[in-house]
Amino acid sequence: MSDIVFTNVARNFRRDGKEFPALRDINLSVRDKEFLAIVGPSGCGKTTCLRMAAGLEFPTSGTVAVGGVRVTRPGPDRAVVFQQFALFPWKTVAENIGFGLVANGVAAAERARRVADVLKLMNLAGYESAFPHQLSGGMQQRVAIARAYVLDPQVLLMDEPFGALDAQTRVVMQEELVRLARVNPRTVLFITHAVEEAVYLADRVVVMSRRPGTIREIIDVASVRAADSWDRFEKIEDVMDQASFVHLRTHIWRLLREQQAPDDH
Ligand SMILES: Nc1ncnc2c1ncn2[C@@H]1O[C@H](COP(=O)(O)OP(=O)(O)O)[C@@H](O)[C@H]1O
Ligand SMILES: [Mg+2]
Repeated sequence: MSDIVFTNVARNFRRDGKEFPALRDINLSVRDKEFLAIVGPSGCGKTTCLRMAAGLEFPTSGTVAVGGVRVTRPGPDRAVVFQQFALFPWKTVAENIGFGLVANGVAAAERARRVADVLKLMNLAGYESAFPHQLSGGMQQRVAIARAYVLDPQVLLMDEPFGALDAQTRVVMQEELVRLARVNPRTVLFITHAVEEAVYLADRVVVMSRRPGTIREIIDVASVRAADSWDRFEKIEDVMDQASFVHLRTHIWRLLREQQAPDDH
């Protein structure tokens, strides 16, 4: 069981010697094998939430637990994918993907097998010896995701992983992620700016308020997806064409607009 539970989480930061609240009253459970997306205005604390689940950041008060265990540091049960691919430029694709396995002490033969599996899964077969600079942005991001998947973590933490991709590559990656989520369901905390992406991918979408970030509303997408059988469509544009999809998307846009700062235009 690998749920992620935020209980009464608050986080303050300091800027110019003054302390300010970045997050407040965060009570949220990402259920085991649920795909949960967070959307919210920039600076509302989305990345901070994800970093707390990763064990890279800690609450000022309250607790974050994964699988019932309080998070005190990063662990092999949780893999993180950031927007900046952060691949090792001097390592090949296969070496980049296998890096975490080496760090975890997985033997060479087993490592080779798992890297080969994931290369196939992510449509990267044939590129194992290439270096990151020889790949397109979309392929580099696939390597970054492969590097997380190969560890077979119970929990995937993804912070705007498609933010740097062009629109077409992004769609391919979104469809790919849905396919992966069906083949190999994991507990996913996914942060995005893109409302359509959140509705397309997630079981539930959390809309956060502007800073100090609180949970404004949690939208249940999974029941709408099931009721309207979105899974019968292979292409994202066909899902996005459904009235039920448009309705959810518009609802979330309205919530987000309310979160604009009064001086935003
Ligand atoms: N280590 C830090 N030190 C000081 N301020 C921080 C730090 N990390 C984040 N912040 C601030 O906390 C707020 C939330 O940041 P972040 O979680 O990155 O928001 P988001 O990902 O939603 O854009 C922002 O105002 C940001 O500047
Ligand atoms: Mg962020």
